[in-house]
Order: sequence, then C-alpha cells, then structure tokens
Amino acid sequence: MNQGQSFTTKILDWYSTNQRPLPWRNTLDPYKIWLSEVILQQTRVAQGTAYYHAFVNSFPSVFDLAKASEEKVLKHWQGLGYYSRARNLLKAARMVVEKHHGKFPNNYNDLLTLPGIGPYTASAISSICFDQVKAVVDGNVFRVLSRYFGIDKPINSTEGQKHFTSLAQELILGTPPGTYNQALMEFGALQCKPHSPVCGSCPLSDSCWALQHQQTSLLPVKRPKKTAKNRYFNYIVPIGDSRQTVLVKRTQKDIWHKLYEFPLIETQTAVEVSEFLKRPDLPEWVDRSQLYLYNDKPWLHKLTHQHIHAFFWIAPNTQPPKNIRNPIASLHKFPVHRLIERFLHKFFD
Ligand code: ADE
Repeated sequence: MNQGQSFTTKILDWYSTNQRPLPWRNTLDPYKIWLSEVILQQTRVAQGTAYYHAFVNSFPSVFDLAKASEEKVLKHWQGLGYYSRARNLLKAARMVVEKHHGKFPNNYNDLLTLPGIGPYTASAISSICFDQVKAVVDGNVFRVLSRYFGIDKPINSTEGQKHFTSLAQELILGTPPGTYNQALMEFGALQCKPHSPVCGSCPLSDSCWALQHQQTSLLPVKRPKKTAKNRYFNYIVPIGDSRQTVLVKRTQKDIWHKLYEFPLIETQTAVEVSEFLKRPDLPEWVDRSQLYLYNDKPWLHKLTHQHIHAFFWIAPNTQPPKNIRNPIASLHKFPVHRLIERFLHKFFD
C-alpha cells in the first residue's frame, strides 16, 4: 500500500466508527444534500442542523422552495449570515424546476451551472448523490492534508489551491467518493481540529508529518488577509405615537442586500451629536430637538472584510410618512440582519 492508500483506508475506517448521525446522512436526495452543504459552507454543524430542519420542514422539496417568496427564504436564513447563499438557493431552485422539470442535474459540470454552486458544492453533491469521483476541498480538507503530508503552501493562494485540489483528487481515486469526501471533512471537524487536534487518539499519528515535526499548530499556512474596512452606520429609529416605526429594504449592491433595517445614514467617521443634527440628509420627518443617541459607544459588528460601527439614533414622537410606517408589533415578520436583530431584542423586548 502506498502512502495515499494507507491514508484513505485509515480515514474510511475512522469514519465508519466515528461519524455523527446527522440528518442529511440518511438520504441521497440531492435537494437535501444541496441544502445541507450550502448551510455547512460557512456554518458549524451545531448551528446549521437547526436551520436545516426548519428549512426542510417549510420547504420539503425543490418545488416548495421554488414557489416561496424571497422574503420568506431570507427570513428562514436570518442569523446565518452570508445571505447571498439564501438568495442563490431560491434562484437555483427556480432554475431546477423551470429548466430541469424539478430534477437535479446529476453531474459535476451541470451542477456548476446553477447559481451559488461552485466547485465545492458541485463536488459534494455529485460524489454523495451520484458517485462521481470528485474530491471536495474545504477548510477541513486543507487542514488535514496540509498536516498529514506536511504542505506549507498558503491555502488562500492560487498555487496552494491548485496543489491541494490535485492532491485531493489523486487521493479519492479508488474510494467510494461520497463516503470518503464526508469522512475526510468529518475527520477534520472532530479529530484534526483547528486548535486542539486530538493527536493522542488519532489513527494517523504514526505517519502524520506535522505531528512528527511538532508543526500541527503551524499548519495549514494562511497568507495574512487584507485589513478590514471600517464603516460607520447611523440608524434612525423612529418611534411613532401609536407604536409605529420604520424599516426599509436594502436595495443597493452592498452587504445585506434585500434585508430590512432602520433608515440609515452612513458617515466616514463617528459623528458627534451636534454635528449629526446639522446633517441635511436627516429625514425631514425627524424632530431634531428630540433626537438622541442610544449608544455612546458604537456597537461593533465584524464581517469578513468590513467592521461596521453602528450608532442608533432614537427619534421619539415622529410621524413618518404612512407608506413607510410599520407597527412595532410586526417587526418580527421582516428578514433583518444580525445587527438589527440584536437591536430589536435589546430595545423593544
Ligand atoms: N462540512 C460540510 N459538509 C460536511 C459533510 N457532509 N460532512 C461533514 N462535515 C461537513
């Protein structure tokens, strides 16, 4: 047995006794596998499982999803982040129904044509559901391969990604591809963990390069990322006489596309009260004499490439125009991003 075969054999053995009984592991329905893989791309299993159940309950088939409104789908996604995943799910579901009569494409290349399905998701679905020999490469796979084989190419460089993809593709040959892909990811999630890998009980410890060279904490290598951009969001929170407020939909090509929030004024820096009151872009229905700042210190909301510093300006006794007014009691119905969700709980509950 060569080094690669010994690796894959041990991974498959390990998986047969250590895999978690996850809800998408007892189905080969590509719709459900697709959902689970999209959820798990940027979300941990512990959090993702509850969303998966709720999603499958509300949208049991691709036909149910395709019929749903975007607002309803975003509402189900609330709190998971990376909302383009939800918008793309809906677009792809509609394409599967309209172009493929509700039947999922059964191969890697055709899967890639669907919105939101890239090499990772296409490999996962085509291997798990259709036995295609396509290796997945996600964070778990980078970590396990870089440590076991001692590879120090940065995982976020083009060269590194090519190298890991081709190694992963060599290793999968001769294995049951769907099971092997899941085994490798599960092994990364449970055994070869990012911070405290469980090397003491690891079946690969005899031949793991990183363990033998005491490098587990240094692999995988990541190139330093660009520093995040700071943005300053000033939300105007109108409180009308009969428990009314205003939520508006984000329509710009920007973060949180199509989610709801309070009327927003973005500034280049944090703004003093006196300066804020002078702004010409304050809505004309705000009574400046009553406007006050809810939080002296900004709430920091970190996204992958941006740090949002949020201020909430309360505007009591306002009469916003009828067409944008919403009863405070109805706010829970709108899909909102985390920052607004946090504010609603703190301020209105
Ligand atoms: N992470 C993403 N997809 C996974 C899967 N199918 N099994 C284990 N971990 C995963």
